Amino acid sequence: MRVMLVGDVIGRPGRRAFREYVQKLRKEKSVDVVIVNGENSASGKGLTRTSLDELYSGGADIVTTGNHVWDKKDVLEFIDSEPFLIRPANYPEGAPGKGYCLYPFKAKTIGVMNLSGRSFMPALDCPFQKVDELLKEMSGQCDIIFLDFHAETTSEKMAMGWYLDGKVNGVVGTHTHIQTADARILPQGTAYITDLGMVGPWNSVLGVKTDKIIYKFTTGLPVRFEVEDQGPQVFSAVIVEIDDKTNKTMGIEPILITE
Ligand SMILES: [Fe+2]
Ligand SMILES: [Fe+2]
Repeated sequence: MRVMLVGDVIGRPGRRAFREYVQKLRKEKSVDVVIVNGENSASGKGLTRTSLDELYSGGADIVTTGNHVWDKKDVLEFIDSEPFLIRPANYPEGAPGKGYCLYPFKAKTIGVMNLSGRSFMPALDCPFQKVDELLKEMSGQCDIIFLDFHAETTSEKMAMGWYLDGKVNGVVGTHTHIQTADARILPQGTAYITDLGMVGPWNSVLGVKTDKIIYKFTTGLPVRFEVEDQGPQVFSAVIVEIDDKTNKTMGIEPILITE
């Protein structure tokens, strides 16, 4: 089985690129299942009914999120009823939505977890303690497990990768919108990349119009971010190969397409 994990999709241009390249890669690289981070899919911040539906119709099977999950209030209306939309599991007890899901594919069940880091991020519960709880809860219920660890620092993400080495099939980082060049299989067999990168405007700062960000840095004044709606897109992902007999991870291939 080949599972593709795709980085944060940015607004309308990102959703267009997501659809185009997922459809292409499903054919060319025999991708079976697609997991994507949708936290920026609605005009760069949050998710709406429309942006989520476009991810699904564009080829997403499971949608993960991160710190921007609550930015569009719409999400509160559907997050509890979407079986394959998840948010970081380490939000306080009682928060809407759920932190993992079980996705059936052929005769297998794929467990997908979502957690947020705590370094330079909102103050949430400990992701390391939480992941232990989740693994206990999920044990016996799934054959294959992935984690989208939505975090700012490379160190926190690497620590999580090593913490889970041999316990899950893959740990991928999201949130920084820049793909790191360290996709690898860790010694105990877990596929790992510090950050998947994004699907969105290539001539931008993390998806936002460059002049807005330059203005912010050069003046110190607050600005309203706008998604760059012109120019080429970047598509960032990894494809993880799983052995169908043993459920072991066989390989990880980074994908970085720039138009
Ligand atoms: Fe993001
Ligand atoms: Fe984020």
